[in-house]
Amino acid sequence: MSLNEQFLRSTEASRAAVEIRLCEIIPESPKSLYDPIRSVFESPGKRIRPVLTYLASLADTKTDWLPAACAVELLHNFTLVHDDIMDNADTRRGELTLHKRYDLNTAILAGDTIIALAEESLASGEYHLSHEMCREFSFAFRCVCEGQAYDKEFETRTDVSIEEYIRMIDLKSAKMLELAVVLGALASDGENVEPMREFAHHTGIAFQIRDDLLDLVADEAALGKKIGGDILEGKRTYLFLKAMESFGSLESHDQEMLLRIQNRNATEDDIHHAKKLFTHIGVVAKAEEAIEQETATARKSVENIRSSEVRKGLMSFSEYLLTRNF
Ligand code: IPE
Ligand code: IPE
Ligand code: MG
Ligand code: MG
Ligand code: MG
Repeated sequence: MSLNEQFLRSTEASRAAVEIRLCEIIPESPKSLYDPIRSVFESPGKRIRPVLTYLASLADTKTDWLPAACAVELLHNFTLVHDDIMDNADTRRGELTLHKRYDLNTAILAGDTIIALAEESLASGEYHLSHEMCREFSFAFRCVCEGQAYDKEFETRTDVSIEEYIRMIDLKSAKMLELAVVLGALASDGENVEPMREFAHHTGIAFQIRDDLLDLVADEAALGKKIGGDILEGKRTYLFLKAMESFGSLESHDQEMLLRIQNRNATEDDIHHAKKLFTHIGVVAKAEEAIEQETATARKSVENIRSSEVRKGLMSFSEYLLTRNF
């Protein structure tokens, strides 16, 4: 059995528990609200965040990690529903996005309601550090919104630096992974919160750079999202920003293609063109290097965690993420 198969097997029960609890959490009526919400949770997400909460809680195996884990997964799914509206995305998890399957109002209200369900789930856990956990939850929630604001703002800017990009993905993606481990640690013995946060921070940066990379190079069926969506939307991704660093040395038809991405009028043909160019000029390799570097830094932080169960779990999680192709 490969390491990834071992990881998936050892976390299978936690994922199953999350699926069951998520189903139970969603009320029946009004159907116009809850049927769309139920469909979000019936679609096949990877559930990496609740699994992280579970792994981070393993210092005390009696921890009731499930309400906190579901809170994180719910909050994450809210961000996806609204993100797909903001990114004009038609597909997610291999299915139509909520605003395409229903309509815009349904998706906005579904997203809002999912946040409330997340808060209720967190509040339903009997945690001795519940005040601290609520504070962490609200902080991560606000960070994602700030990150999304930068993501949209950058679409119309021509001077975004790699440092600004890293700050943006820290807010929109890494902070949610941080929340996942911090809630697990706080729900458990409340120890080693900071090394776990550090681990999730670097893992989250690597995760979003990989997401940017997969947006261009993945297999569309496996990814469940449209390939090249970031190109069409003019996103300032890691790959795009790195390609712009070599702008001066590129041929004019390559420069023109990059400018179309920058000006948000790239075409379907540009997706294939960008994939070829980004591979050719080494931008894909640079993204892979950055992912490996962030992952290595994340793994260093694991050494500072006292519980060997948590260390083992987070290390295999990190291995699993590094090799993901969807
Ligand atoms: C997608 O997250 C949003 C990002 C932060 C890149 P996932 O890739 O974890 O999405 P699901 O939940 O598995 O569909
Ligand atoms: C993910 O960024 C950020 C949030 C969902 C908050 P993306 O916009 O790249 O995520 P995908 O690629 O649509 O899943
Ligand atoms: Mg987005
Ligand atoms: Mg998106
Ligand atoms: Mg993406």
